[in-house]
Amino acid sequence: MATTPGTRTGVTAAAADPLPEGAPRHIAIIMDGNGRWAQCRGLPRIEGHRRGVASVRRITEHAARRGVEQLTLYCLSRENWRRPALETTFLMHLLEQYMVEERALLSRERIQVSMIGRRDGLPAATLAALDRTVASCAGNTGMRLCLAINYGGRDEIVDAARALAQAARDGTLDPADIDEEVFAGRLSTGGMPDPDLLIRTAGEQRVSNFLLWQISYAELWITDALWPDFDAGHLDAAIAAFAGRVRRFGGLAPS
Ligand code: IPE
Ligand code: IPE
Ligand code: MG
Repeated sequence: MATTPGTRTGVTAAAADPLPEGAPRHIAIIMDGNGRWAQCRGLPRIEGHRRGVASVRRITEHAARRGVEQLTLYCLSRENWRRPALETTFLMHLLEQYMVEERALLSRERIQVSMIGRRDGLPAATLAALDRTVASCAGNTGMRLCLAINYGGRDEIVDAARALAQAARDGTLDPADIDEEVFAGRLSTGGMPDPDLLIRTAGEQRVSNFLLWQISYAELWITDALWPDFDAGHLDAAIAAFAGRVRRFGGLAPS
């Protein structure tokens, strides 16, 4: 994705404040509103996506500097293929460009990168750029950045169920041994903590097939800000709001 002038934070930027007590370890974001950002400026939707990449860069860097352990970003849903080919082709191009251009920042911030979602259907060039970025960040020990690309929550659950059924048929798994932990381990997020905080930009009050299993007890934070306008201040506000929440997980609040 092309660098938008004035949006890249300098290498010398001051370290961000450390996270407050009770801060989220894992933040997931539904990055919505790129199209509306462009449309309300009389620009083509793809301009909104281009500006959205600048937000990805800004927020990834800020989250890493604040000490967030994992950031999961919803980049493309399975359902987004319902959009005109012109837009999806541009999104693929943008993803490829992002993978190449972000390598320096990801390395500098010691960020580890992974992808969840279906590889089938993604262009070979996009996958090759993604794989190279993941490999180049493999030795990093900082924040884990998980990119949900061509991702669908239901799809992921069906895949896990199929894998478990296959294992049971092969005789390597007793169906009686399937519990939540075993099931979660078969999801593409196996081994990752569940998101503590789910942020959605652009005001929609829905989850749009994102991490359906994993967000069962995530705290929700929805802002009207469109993704290209989402900045470090918004992320800090979400983190502060989370720190003030009482999570009960079905139990009672501590007295
Ligand atoms: C989110 O912005 C980016 C993707 C889904 C790829 P949208 O493109 O959905 O923006 P709106 O919702 O139309 O404004
Ligand atoms: C969710 O946004 C998908 C991503 C942010 C990648 P959408 O714009 O696709 O969601 P809906 O269609 O408004 O539910
Ligand atoms: Mg949208």
